[in-house]
Amino acid sequence: MNLGLIYKSLMEDDFKVLHTLEKHLVNREYVPLQLIEKTSGIHEEKLQLIVKKLQGLNLVRSETITGEKMFRLTYLGYDMLAIRALAKSNMLEAIGDRIGVGKESEIYMGLAPGGTQVAVKFLRIGRTSFRQTVRVRAWVRNKPFSTWYEQSKIAAEREFKAIKELISYKAYVPNPIGYNRHVVVVEYIDGTELYTRPFLEDPDKVLEKILFTLTLALHRAGIVHGDLSEYNVIVRRSNEDPFIIDWPQYVYKDDPSAIDLLKRDIYYIVKFFNKVYGTLLDPESAFDKVLKGVFLN
Ligand SMILES: Nc1ncnc2c1ncn2[C@@H]1O[C@H](COP(=O)(O)OP(=O)(O)O)[C@@H](O)[C@H]1O
Ligand SMILES: [Mg+2]
Repeated sequence: MNLGLIYKSLMEDDFKVLHTLEKHLVNREYVPLQLIEKTSGIHEEKLQLIVKKLQGLNLVRSETITGEKMFRLTYLGYDMLAIRALAKSNMLEAIGDRIGVGKESEIYMGLAPGGTQVAVKFLRIGRTSFRQTVRVRAWVRNKPFSTWYEQSKIAAEREFKAIKELISYKAYVPNPIGYNRHVVVVEYIDGTELYTRPFLEDPDKVLEKILFTLTLALHRAGIVHGDLSEYNVIVRRSNEDPFIIDWPQYVYKDDPSAIDLLKRDIYYIVKFFNKVYGTLLDPESAFDKVLKGVFLN
């Protein structure tokens, strides 16, 4: 079922249970029913029905651990809490279709109040499979075996703050709208990913704008993207502006790996342009220019 539909099917008490499971996440991943009852204040009979509903929607999973039935929040359940918080703080009004899926994220189309189209990125880092959960359940019982939700939360916050700073320097990144928990909301770019090799009127200009953004990142924000490729650039349909997306893995410029990553980012994208669009930029000199801040002039 579509995320938006799942969200709409939830009642106040459903959220109460999700919140309860989230609260307990700090100390334990699996929570017995009595504890949910105690924390949420919902009576057992009603609680049973709610939990069944949430399980049916895949927002909650159960497991029997040493004879006791326990419940935990899934990523989808965590998504619902984030969507609700974003909706309440007027950053999100509707969720539409999924427009992208990566190894550690899913991206949905959405609407912000006022009708702005947005891209909603749900980070999904470090969620071990159910099988693995069973294997390490001795530890799971009292403590999350991995802080999957924290890793995703940190990544979302990093991504939001990086693009927020970058946009203040007029870099080509999507406008950030907000974030909550493991979810980031940014302006939707109506365009084509560079990997689809869209026709470009002026490839030199597009490449220069990409290098300009990398220069601003390095010299103003003090960061290096670290995962630049034709998959992380969206070229806007209306004016060929190239937006660099997908920033959570950035490194600070004084990180020991920063220079190597910067070099890789630049060589990669310049070679792509040379090969696909026939530009004639020497990667070494592009790297040199970024280091010297030439594209800022
Ligand atoms: N702001 C955006 N506007 C339009 N499409 C986007 C936007 N952000 C992400 N996407 C789509 O989602 C895909 C994955 O987004 P990305 O941030 O690169 O996540 P991942 O970590 O999964 O690679 C992109 O390739 C693109 O198709
Ligand atoms: Mg990506």
